[in-house]
Amino acid sequence: MSMGRHATHSAAPATDAAAGGPLATPGDRPPVLRVEDLRIRFPVNNGLETVKAVDGVDFEVRQGETFGVIGESGSGKTTIGRALACLLQPTSGRILHDGVDPATLSRSAFRRRRRDYQIIFQDPNAALNPRMTILDSVMEPLRIAGEGDDAARRRAATEALVRVGLAPEAGVRYPHQLSGGQKQRVNIARVLTLRPRMIVCDEVVAALDVSIRGDVLNLFADLQREFGLTYVFITHDISVVSHISDRIAVTYLGKFMELGPADAVTEKPLHPYTQALLSAEPVPLPSSMRVNRRIMLEGEIPSPVSPPSGCRFRTRCPSAQTRCAAEEPAWRELRPDHWVACHFATPEGPPPPNA
Ligand SMILES: Nc1ncnc2c1ncn2[C@@H]1O[C@H](COP(=O)(O)OP(=O)(O)O)[C@@H](O)[C@H]1O
Ligand SMILES: [Mg+2]
Repeated sequence: MSMGRHATHSAAPATDAAAGGPLATPGDRPPVLRVEDLRIRFPVNNGLETVKAVDGVDFEVRQGETFGVIGESGSGKTTIGRALACLLQPTSGRILHDGVDPATLSRSAFRRRRRDYQIIFQDPNAALNPRMTILDSVMEPLRIAGEGDDAARRRAATEALVRVGLAPEAGVRYPHQLSGGQKQRVNIARVLTLRPRMIVCDEVVAALDVSIRGDVLNLFADLQREFGLTYVFITHDISVVSHISDRIAVTYLGKFMELGPADAVTEKPLHPYTQALLSAEPVPLPSSMRVNRRIMLEGEIPSPVSPPSGCRFRTRCPSAQTRCAAEEPAWRELRPDHWVACHFATPEGPPPPNA
């Protein structure tokens, strides 16, 4: 396998959708992902209660973009990511992958398609078998996919290891002999051999030493340029996504509070929750806007078993009014391509805090 095939594959995917499904507008390919009113629930407490992990989100991920998803722990980010990578079925709503709902496919067609939509997890050990050599681990997805013979898989895996910045000799080692950053590179190599269309990166640098996070993020950026990859980049740390994302979705208790271009969301947010996340960011930005506007998030995120009525952020919102408890905010496009769920946000920004 030559790495050139990656590029060809990404630039012109021979998918059924490229021919134009019902959602394709003429001359315009459907988005890599289209998510429609996605809801994912988990029964807990012996089925007596239901966690609304994802509670109705709508978005598209466009070809070649990095779509950032931020929010505190427990807001449903990983659940969304697992659903995007076909590891979880929606409870309701649907996800179209290049215009196709995988739930409508036969078993074998589903398996062939699923390899185009991959996920890399926070824990560098999650996908690595401690008793397998690195090379075997990188070859494994190709073996499962039944692609090529052993020699071809070996070549592809070695090539992928080199591409992610590891020496070919790393292949004979075992996971415990590698650092966290090296293991995360191995996980990237594993996914790369499959030539995916899209990769969900779920907190992929969170477990790594701060000093090497930048290198790994740069590797993701290089691979995106080279192979035309589409990323969904999940993190609780807004400083990680702000630099690498094209658009950012801000998640709270299973719903989006705000979605827009990365620079607008991080520099001129519309939602009080986004503003609070930004002001809680440890690295102060040199921007004058942040002065005198420090709003810390107080209290714990409420239970997703029974989210607050109306606006689910209202119990922690510095600007909450009585209407916020009574009525769920509409999803409004206040600026071009920039959406918010807040009754009182204006194109100028979030409502002022209550006196
Ligand atoms: N398999 C599961 N069973 C029960 N509850 C789950 C399961 N997976 C996630 N949850 C719950 O769903 C909510 C969202 O979790 P998650 O998607 O992991 O959030 P995040 O990645 O933003 O931290 C949390 O309350 C979590 O406890
Ligand atoms: Mg998570």
